[in-house]
Amino acid sequence: MRFLDLANVPVVRIGEHELGPGATVAPMAGITNPPFRQLCRELGASLSTTELISCHALVYLHRKRSNRGRKLGAKILSLIEPYPGEQPLCVQIFGRDPQMMAEAARIAVGEGAEIIDLNFGCPARQVIKNGEGAGVALMRDPQTLTEIARQVVQAVEVPVTAKTRLGYSPSEKNAVDIARRLVDVGVQLLCIHGRTKDQGHSGPVDFDTLAEVVTAVSVPVIGNGGIRGRADAEEMLARTGCARVSIGQGAKGNPWIFREVVGGSIETSLSERLATCKRHLELYIDWIGESRAVLEMRKHAAWYLKGFDGAAVLRGRLGQAVDTKSFLALLDEVPVGESPPR
Ligand SMILES: Cc1cc2nc3c(=O)[nH]c(=O)nc-3n(C[C@H](O)[C@H](O)[C@H](O)COP(=O)(O)O)c2cc1C
Repeated sequence: MRFLDLANVPVVRIGEHELGPGATVAPMAGITNPPFRQLCRELGASLSTTELISCHALVYLHRKRSNRGRKLGAKILSLIEPYPGEQPLCVQIFGRDPQMMAEAARIAVGEGAEIIDLNFGCPARQVIKNGEGAGVALMRDPQTLTEIARQVVQAVEVPVTAKTRLGYSPSEKNAVDIARRLVDVGVQLLCIHGRTKDQGHSGPVDFDTLAEVVTAVSVPVIGNGGIRGRADAEEMLARTGCARVSIGQGAKGNPWIFREVVGGSIETSLSERLATCKRHLELYIDWIGESRAVLEMRKHAAWYLKGFDGAAVLRGRLGQAVDTKSFLALLDEVPVGESPPR
């Protein structure tokens, strides 16, 4: 197998934006918000994307000025907000109605989006069912999917990218056809999750079909699925010819994975993990305020703090913390200096 030098891959261009050599951060609802995107980008990620945002939500935001101050409006605004200095801001939208998707894309651009990413991969019930038929369900309806992309590309001046899977099920792997259609209507970059809808977010990644997509289209393709470290990233690049890889779950509690894939240190000491956990909390506080920050940080702390005596008990107690003071007091109990780097 030919391993590539991940730190020296060719530049990828999306419109006027140039991607550095690092892996991109795969969008994850409830995780890839501004604080997490900031940490990942600082550690070497080349691009990050907001979590998926409904086209209906964006249209609601724009319908009346007063909606911006309502609870739903404020939530939507917080999701499309960049972290300080984020560039480019890539906003992912989902929906089934081409006109509404085009309108949502225009609204997102008006709010600062510099790239619009179309979600054609989400398998969540509330996205693919309930009359919505969006996300990965659109891979079964290539005409509507193509029409969405066509109208969005026409509606905005910024580059449009798309994220798909390999297909809906093992017998419906139509990623090559979908990719060609998307590129034909002007989509400038594709991120392909190398699994089918039936696989959810785990299980083997089909490198061969990913490689077929790469060969079939003229735009950069980012490969996604199952990357847990540098060797996985090298393997995906070598076996598929993808321009970059995208990392999702492998970055939870481990934003250093972006440093690792471009040749940086693999090891993180417990004190580094603890310091990042505290910084993550500060970024959350700046973003959404103290009380929500602590609730959100419970899961991240549990992902960061592993591999030392008493870790499980401490994680359980962090899961009960309700304010910053008690949360930080618990973090002070982490026995830094006693554990070897992992
Ligand atoms: C909790 C969670 C939330 C996700 N949310 C999104 C999303 O909002 N948009 C999207 O395109 N993909 C979403 N995904 C899929 C990921 O972007 C990625 O394709 C998937 O996790 C496979 O990559 P991985 O094996 O590196 O995790 C989500 C995945 C998870 C686990």
